[in-house]
Amino acid sequence: MLFITQIRNPDHTDTMYENPRLILDSDEAPEPGRIVWRSPSNLAIIKYWGKYGAQMPRNPSLSLTLSASCTDMALEYSLKEVPDSRIGLGFLFHGEENAAFQAKIQAFLESLVPVFPFLTQLQMSIQTGNSFPHSAGIASSASSMSALALCLCSLEDALFGTLQEPAEFDRKSSFIARLGSGSACRSIFPHAAVWGASAAVPDSSDAYAVPAEHLLHPGFKDLHDDILIVSSQEKSVSSRAGHALMEGNPYAEARYAQAKSRLSTLIDALGAGDWEAFGKIAEDEALTLHALMMCSNPSYMLLEPNTIALIQKIRAYRAETKHPVYFSLDAGPNIHLLYPGEIIAEVRGWIEEELTPLLVDNWFIQDWVGEGPEEL
Ligand code: PMV
Repeated sequence: MLFITQIRNPDHTDTMYENPRLILDSDEAPEPGRIVWRSPSNLAIIKYWGKYGAQMPRNPSLSLTLSASCTDMALEYSLKEVPDSRIGLGFLFHGEENAAFQAKIQAFLESLVPVFPFLTQLQMSIQTGNSFPHSAGIASSASSMSALALCLCSLEDALFGTLQEPAEFDRKSSFIARLGSGSACRSIFPHAAVWGASAAVPDSSDAYAVPAEHLLHPGFKDLHDDILIVSSQEKSVSSRAGHALMEGNPYAEARYAQAKSRLSTLIDALGAGDWEAFGKIAEDEALTLHALMMCSNPSYMLLEPNTIALIQKIRAYRAETKHPVYFSLDAGPNIHLLYPGEIIAEVRGWIEEELTPLLVDNWFIQDWVGEGPEEL
């Protein structure tokens, strides 16, 4: 319970994992080692949009953990021959140097030294890559930052044996992932996760996500998410800028209240296996997210004409067939098509026939709700 007292006080949350004792003695040099994690992306059904402090969310969010869209990351480490206070990092992305990504990871690791002081004692090398092309217009920050957080927590455990308890390992991984990219903290858990303190979810916190698999009726564990690629361009306004614009958004307070109340409604729908109620919230949340962008100051729009055309086709198909087929959107123009596995053959036939002409190179990614990260 000490934990809960800490996390509800924002002054304490940023420092809750600082630990100056996690430092290697000079006489216990560890063997060089290698840690590899595969971590998936996630799709928020209740969206996180608006933050404060160090990536703390203005409202709670609930996501489904994906499978096919993932990052593999290998972290190799050995003790530095000559100690210094810098982060020693080699970095390869899909086997090639990438100065921009390396700089981002380097800065993030530097910010984590109070949490993992041993990082400055090591020479490290990271090799990473995504299962989807970098240019797909699909955010890779959730999968990559969760993979990095998992590697770092495994590293701490390999060196000090301090994260043996699985729930504590997951909680710390989620906390670290959040510092890298807010939504990444939800990718740690199988099937579903909730991030953000909510009276509807015991032990929930702004500082890390908690598992939410138990909230799902079995039918939702067989949910498919086919990601329809409407544009593969990098988005024109980053999520970071979008979150910041919520601070001046006239609808911000109403939005945060709405997300809180929709979370309770969604939890009821997920538990009851109620696809219609689930789908209504998923679509309302997706459109609310983009409406908030459109009424920010300055206003901006990430939807493309084919996003709207697809939404109309999805609604028409649903009305005609009565199939539980719904859409969601991330902060971009690509459609996430959500439906239960039992109608996969029919839905895929419809996608191939009717929807692919609206997609970049007829391209869609077949994804589904899955088991969460895996140590390889
Ligand atoms: O984690 P960020 O800072 O990239 O923000 C992601 C926000 C949305 O993807 C739009 C919604 C969400 O909850 O994932």
